[in-house]
Amino acid sequence: MTDDRPYSPGLEGVVAAETGLGYVDGEQGRLLYRGYRIGDLVEHGTYPAVANLLWTGDWDAGHRMATGELPEGVLKTLRALPATAKPMDALRTAVSAWGATQELAWPPTAEQARALTAFSPSALAAFARIRAGQEPIAPDPSLNLVEGFLYQLKGTRPDAGTARALDAYFVVGAEHGLNASTFTARVITSTRSDLASAVAGAIGALKGPLHGGAPSEVVEQIHQVGSVERAEQWVNETLDKGERLMGFGHRVYRAYDPRAAALRKVAESMEHPPEWLALATAVEDVALKVLAERHPERALKTNVEFYAAPVLMGVGLTPDLFPATFALARHAGWTAHVIEQAADNRLIRPDARYIGPAERDLPS
Ligand SMILES: CC(C)(COP(=O)(O)OP(=O)(O)OC[C@H]1O[C@@H](n2cnc3c(N)ncnc32)[C@H](O)[C@@H]1OP(=O)(O)O)[C@@H](O)C(=O)NCCC(=O)NCCS
Repeated sequence: MTDDRPYSPGLEGVVAAETGLGYVDGEQGRLLYRGYRIGDLVEHGTYPAVANLLWTGDWDAGHRMATGELPEGVLKTLRALPATAKPMDALRTAVSAWGATQELAWPPTAEQARALTAFSPSALAAFARIRAGQEPIAPDPSLNLVEGFLYQLKGTRPDAGTARALDAYFVVGAEHGLNASTFTARVITSTRSDLASAVAGAIGALKGPLHGGAPSEVVEQIHQVGSVERAEQWVNETLDKGERLMGFGHRVYRAYDPRAAALRKVAESMEHPPEWLALATAVEDVALKVLAERHPERALKTNVEFYAAPVLMGVGLTPDLFPATFALARHAGWTAHVIEQAADNRLIRPDARYIGPAERDLPS
């Protein structure tokens, strides 16, 4: 039963797919969607344009997409959930219920991807209102997707700056290579299962704290720091306790996360940023200095979560909606990977090395 084939825990370093969608260059701090730099896409594009680019390969900066209608069965399902359900659980359930109302033929198409990506913001907004004892709001087809999501969540149309800031967050969250949830979506697709099943599975993978990130923890830590004068002492005490600084370090990026750079600009140009944004930038400077001193061997730089926090707070989302909002943004990437996987499909079926007991007889 010896098996000398190489085993890579966590599949680290194993190339398990070819993709033309996202390029994550950890050394140089570059992120490209179909070759275009993330900073340029944030500056000149919108989430619907970026989603369309990922699905079709075509760049149309003016591409628009409204949020979608909720089938009656989905609304009933959302109303049946306890108000205490986590928004990620509600979103995963909604996607699954939506799949049950559709005829999702194989192979998955850009039209299917568009329909699901438009549906999910309406579903999350509806759940947030239902749990607060409010009625869901129907989509307004005149609003672009992110603006429409905020309108259905809050009941008022967001100002242009607020909509723009959340749209930028959606653009940077849209795609990030073969991360765990995207891999999950590709594995499910490789069995010729449907797009809704792939995305429901991906949401399940993203729900785990090792993947979904926690910009809300950044908010907590900035509040703990309290003031610029206390920043250095707080950073040192936190590291001395063996705790991690939220919003720093990354498995792939050794350079400054290009998504953090793009969101920092967005946060700083917001009309109503949270009042602690200036404190956060001061904490960032101190944290980068101290991390460089303590880890000269390992470049630990700011990651996307650090500036996602002020953007999400600044647009008025409550921290418990942050992970599900990230999932909405990642719909574009997941569904683009589903289409890409289906177009050149091979069932994903790796091997396991058997380390159990040798062949033996049942006890008599
Ligand atoms: C993202 C993260 C999980 C990557 O983990 P990883 O790839 O295992 O980290 P590395 O291998 O680069 O860590 C190397 C060293 O730096 C330390 N380190 C990494 N990130 C750190 C952080 N944010 N604060 C303090 N120390 C950190 C580790 O403790 C490790 O030191 P050790 O070996 O003495 O324990 C990790 O950086 C982290 O926990 N960051 C904080 C949470 C966060 O911001 N998550 C969102 C990511 S987008």
